[in-house]
Amino acid sequence: MSRVLIAGCGDVGTALGLMLCKAGCDVFGARRSSRRLPAPLRPLSVDVTDRGAIERTIPAVDVVVYAVAAGRRDEGAYRRAYVDGVSALLDVLEQRAEPPRRAFFVSSTSVYGERDGAWVDETAPLRPRGFAGESLVAGEQRMLESPIPATVVRFAGIYGPGRGWLIERARAGAGCAGDPPRYTNRIHRDDCAGALAHLVTCERVDDVYIGVDDAPVEECEVMEWLAARLGAPAPRRAVAGAAQGSGKRCSNARLRASGYRLRYPTYREGYAAVLAGEGTRYP
Ligand SMILES: NC(=O)c1ccc[n+]([C@@H]2O[C@H](COP(=O)([O-])OP(=O)(O)OC[C@H]3O[C@@H](n4cnc5c(N)ncnc54)[C@H](OP(=O)(O)O)[C@@H]3O)[C@@H](O)[C@H]2O)c1
Repeated sequence: MSRVLIAGCGDVGTALGLMLCKAGCDVFGARRSSRRLPAPLRPLSVDVTDRGAIERTIPAVDVVVYAVAAGRRDEGAYRRAYVDGVSALLDVLEQRAEPPRRAFFVSSTSVYGERDGAWVDETAPLRPRGFAGESLVAGEQRMLESPIPATVVRFAGIYGPGRGWLIERARAGAGCAGDPPRYTNRIHRDDCAGALAHLVTCERVDDVYIGVDDAPVEECEVMEWLAARLGAPAPRRAVAGAAQGSGKRCSNARLRASGYRLRYPTYREGYAAVLAGEGTRYP
């Protein structure tokens, strides 16, 4: 039985932890406030930027998944979540007599700067735009340079139960980026958890994976599909001008080649499940 630590055990982390428990792992969920974590996750209350607290609280584990989120969009919060926290945790774990055999860092496709609608895969150069992507790149680097073998998983727009940002926009009759068309890459929360659970239990893993569904899609197509389902008026296709860019299209070929099969291969299956009220968001 593997002992797994999920540092930053929020929505994705809790879904992952419950899957790993079902697969027979012993799972610790660490966050500053852990009292609402569901059994059989073993709650640990710890701030991952506090080395002393990590030393006192975090037990010996075989695998670590770092899934801390910044919580709010400011530079200090991003640096604490994606740089200071991962450094502090690794500083402690690397010194242990029995360090984990692998660590995973949950990152984002915002590390890629493409805005012209190009396809990107794991080999694309990292060109983050702004502090969010820059912090993630720094955290990834710290993880990949660790003597603990590491894997980075870059998710795109996560949606799922209680994460209905696009649904609310479609319901409210908001416009969409029609000219130039903007691509969006999406993944259901349960596929984030499922892909991580798959990689945690794989014998051989790569150093980087992109975590998206099978179909990058124009934002307007998703909004129109949602509006039709909701009985809302079709969204107005806005003219944003060339400066806005077309985003990027992320390939999940490497994740699929690893053997992972998506539960929700496109936004249609995933949003249909959300609209049907399936699942819950973990607080
Ligand atoms: N949202 C997206 O579309 C998207 C896209 C790509 C990647 N991601 C990444 O996916 C990951 C998981 O996201 P999520 O939706 O599961 O986020 P979430 O539900 O907000 O969970 C993040 C967890 O981090 C914990 N945390 C924050 N600061 C901490 C600290 N200093 N020490 C210990 N724990 C801390 C929070 O708990 P406490 O407040 O109790 O500490 C929370 O439980 C994140 O890395 C996020 O950046 C998200």
